[in-house]
Amino acid sequence: MSKTIFVLNGPNLNMLGKREPGIYGGGTLKDIENDCIAAGRELGFEIDFRQSNHEGVLVDWIHEAGDKAVVGIAINAGAYTHTSIALHDAIRAISVPVVELHISNVHAREEFRHHSMIAPAVKGVICGFGTASYVLALHALKSITA
Ligand code: DQA
Repeated sequence: MSKTIFVLNGPNLNMLGKREPGIYGGGTLKDIENDCIAAGRELGFEIDFRQSNHEGVLVDWIHEAGDKAVVGIAINAGAYTHTSIALHDAIRAISVPVVELHISNVHAREEFRHHSMIAPAVKGVICGFGTASYVLALHALKSITA
């Protein structure tokens, strides 16, 4: 039976490649999806990779992950990380383990990025390793879901 992982991406991550390449690198979200699929294959995960600019859509997908009892969620919630009580509550509402991830080291950036609304609701946080943060998040999920 295949073990599904949701990799969820929040606002503006569809702009990767064009968006602030000095911070986020020159790769696109499609490149990251391909990396996740390749890593998933090695780890025994099927990757369901999604992006939305809309907070409620992300909430719906977290609920869907709970309903389907997927193995885990890796989420880069983008700017909603710093603002969204709704995402915090959605993560708390399911029993699926969630790993928060960021491409950049949010703690080395503007002060408003230092606080995560979702961090208290997730299993752990990975940030600052560029797009490799995604693959590291999959490894983290593997280590806690074996
Ligand atoms: C980000 C960091 C957030 O502060 C920012 O709003 C993003 C991307 C990252 O991956 O480094 O959109 O989550």
